[in-house]
Amino acid sequence: MGLTRVPGLLFGGDYNPEQWPEEVWAEDVRLMAEAGVNMATVAVFSWSRLEPEPGAYDFGWLDRVLDLLHVHGVAADLATATATPPPWLVRAHPEMMPVNADGVRLEFGSRQGYCPSSPVYREHATRLATVMAERYGEHPALAMWHIGNEYADHTLECFCPESAAHFRRWLQARYGEIGALNAAWGTSCWGQHYTGFAQVEPPRTAPGPVNPAQLLDWRRFCSDALLELFQAEKAALRAVTPDVPVTTNFMSILHGLDYWTWAAAEDLVSDDAYPDPADPTSHVAVALSYDLMRSLKRRPWLLLESAPSAVSWREVNAPKPPGVMRLHSLQALAHGSDGVMFFQWRQAKYGPEKFHSAMLPHGGTRTRGWQDTLRLGRDLRNLAEVAGADTTAQVALVLDWESWWGLEAPESMPSNRLKLKELLLAWYAPLHARGISVDLTPPGRDLSPYRVVIAPNLYLCTEEQAKALASFDGELIVGPFSGVVTRDDQIHDGGAPGPLKDLLGVAVDEFWPLTGPQDTTMGRAGTWAEWLRLIDAEPIAHYLGGDLDGRPAITRKGRATYVSCLLDDVTPVLDLVLDGVDRVDVPMGVEAVRRGGFLFLLNHTTAPQPVTLPSGGTDLLTGTPMRGEIALPARDAVVLRIEGEQ
Ligand code: GAL
Repeated sequence: MGLTRVPGLLFGGDYNPEQWPEEVWAEDVRLMAEAGVNMATVAVFSWSRLEPEPGAYDFGWLDRVLDLLHVHGVAADLATATATPPPWLVRAHPEMMPVNADGVRLEFGSRQGYCPSSPVYREHATRLATVMAERYGEHPALAMWHIGNEYADHTLECFCPESAAHFRRWLQARYGEIGALNAAWGTSCWGQHYTGFAQVEPPRTAPGPVNPAQLLDWRRFCSDALLELFQAEKAALRAVTPDVPVTTNFMSILHGLDYWTWAAAEDLVSDDAYPDPADPTSHVAVALSYDLMRSLKRRPWLLLESAPSAVSWREVNAPKPPGVMRLHSLQALAHGSDGVMFFQWRQAKYGPEKFHSAMLPHGGTRTRGWQDTLRLGRDLRNLAEVAGADTTAQVALVLDWESWWGLEAPESMPSNRLKLKELLLAWYAPLHARGISVDLTPPGRDLSPYRVVIAPNLYLCTEEQAKALASFDGELIVGPFSGVVTRDDQIHDGGAPGPLKDLLGVAVDEFWPLTGPQDTTMGRAGTWAEWLRLIDAEPIAHYLGGDLDGRPAITRKGRATYVSCLLDDVTPVLDLVLDGVDRVDVPMGVEAVRRGGFLFLLNHTTAPQPVTLPSGGTDLLTGTPMRGEIALPARDAVVLRIEGEQ
């Protein structure tokens, strides 16, 4: 069963017909059909056009759009249209606009203008979701619901009185009584002892560093508050259209929202990904986020937005050179997407995104961009059999949002230079370069499918999480500054690595953040080191030179490896644990990804590369049988249906 009832791979993009006169729509759908587009995301920001006055709906135009799409074989990823509340609602309820940490209420004129805790917004958004479901639930074009849009893109948090009240309700549900909050937040420090929940406020700008436990709860709350909005709309849709799948588009590896929790609330995971064409390594970071998307539900997902060429929101918006849009699209499929969708179908004539690329550029069908769109459409038809194929990974990286929030709390850490995404990437990049499939996992999930589990950092680690890691029967690597604090951001008794101490057989006497390079016998470290004390682990690498000279840097106890520093290159550590793990050897800059019975080979370099195929097969893109050594042209790809695996 695919992600939706549309067979094969999904292909299309955001379609904003309300920005165009109706005469243009006929051309739109004709060209969509020509390109093989089979899905369009519609009505994302359409609330003010669907309900221009309170309760007075204007659905005629959307009816006609959906009919036209359907007739031309294009299904709808239909938005609930709640991503920008209309001016009349904001003017009637100015208190629903978000307030920043300095107490400034933001103005209408952009998008996502709502306080996540606003009861007015919630009431009207769920009402609109119900109305949309009632109107379009039976429409033959409807394939899936798109709730909101990129939650937390512009509005992650709000500091208004309504949000404060919501935060207090959330805290009361978590702690029951104020004494428990005082204990969890350690309010005996700096004289913050509360005698009632009414005294607690969101972490607005304060004279000095804000209590980090309060900040951690605020991060939890903000993720939950937005999720409540999603859930409220979902419930409204479910009541009318119980069988139509729902999603909301994620924003790759996003700090603000705990996507493990969010994904559990969705029927299918979808993602928006915008790797920077000016960064020659961006395909590695984006592969990591694609692997997260696949891991969220351990099943295929959908790339719901990407850029055909340049975006419009970086300082410099580089275009994608010839071949790159196709290559990046195939890369998403390689990592488990069941389609390729773009922002947007027709390039805008006005507004903040008029310079953002589109499938159909300003210059129309004579442009390079349109030729790319046509070519990708053909490719996706040739790759239809890839839809639904699962990925098997033997290596997993641990990612935990609460730990991430704790780690990157501002102002009170030994070093502000530990950034979780960079720590993940440091391990991911060399695995990716060796053609090794990687899943991401929360620490508490069943780890038995894996041979190797790597926790690049688990600053916050609970006893239960430590138990889950300890019961893992494979090679475990734990990175530095792990097992430091409890769920309440309090130092574990006896210090780091807290509940991981028995498992790793080491104690950290002192954190040793670095301002310059530090050598070890397994390579150079930067940013971070530790003064380790061995309990019953064996040292396998030592620090060389400086104040830590001769002290253990990397240790092993049984099959648990602890790396107390941030190595510039973790390859020597990986070499210790990767025996027997499936890999595909390819030259630097070529990406090899197995998905089910298919092998994707993607040449991200600007020169042809020799690749020895691990087995024979047929390239689905060209229909050519292949085996042995091939020359993979620059920025080109092969998708091999592996012989004997179907
Ligand atoms: C996304 C958003 C789209 C569009 C796109 C441009 O963040 O969901 O509506 O703005 O970026 O890159």
